Amino acid sequence: MEVVVLVSGRGSNLAALLAAQRDGTLPIRITAVLCDRPAAPALAIARDAGVPTCTLDAAEFDSRVEFDRALFAHISSLAPQLVVLAGFMRIIDASVLTPWLGRMINIHPSLLPKYSGLHTHRRALEAGDPEHGASVHFVTAELDGGPVIAQVAIEVHEDDNTASLAARLLAHEHDLLVASVGLIASGRLRYAIDGPQLDDHALLAPLRLIADRSRRFLSA
Ligand code: GRF
Repeated sequence: MEVVVLVSGRGSNLAALLAAQRDGTLPIRITAVLCDRPAAPALAIARDAGVPTCTLDAAEFDSRVEFDRALFAHISSLAPQLVVLAGFMRIIDASVLTPWLGRMINIHPSLLPKYSGLHTHRRALEAGDPEHGASVHFVTAELDGGPVIAQVAIEVHEDDNTASLAARLLAHEHDLLVASVGLIASGRLRYAIDGPQLDDHALLAPLRLIADRSRRFLSA
């Protein structure tokens, strides 16, 4: 399966996908990495792996939608089977998204529908949540709002702060993204007209990844 990855920053999720591609656990080929910030460290990760990159500097476009049109024209020219938003920090206009519905996923660091948007770790701590986690979902025009495919949850410790919680979650986030892309690449998970299907049955609730680094789901 040919995959294009969109990034804005650090690139640790991209690195996890590249590592899984390299060691043969993920049947994908990342054909390009697209970025909206010229200084993003993720670009060096892509280049070191020999993956072509393209940076569209958002600052050089007159409007948000013009940037989106240019970005998605480029994605269309690459014709990937799947687009992965891996730390891509922009809201994408509905007009360009619609043709990609069901072929684009995002990783978000919260147990959606809780805490869409930013500062998810801080918000989970402030709410006194006993658990926190990450979600992979199909992308729709609603911010962090498309159908959730899979989640991973970890316990919040009494002495956690934003940094410790984020750091502990990150490894599980990587596993969640790799395992979710694996389900799509193997053809088991797809987006049908009325929502996600796993093995040709409607996915009624998000899959739960076991948070033990095995990359296995509780029931899948
Ligand atoms: C991750 O926490 C991801 O869930 C969120 O942005 C962060 C990106 O991290 N959407 P990285 O760039 O993959 O390291």
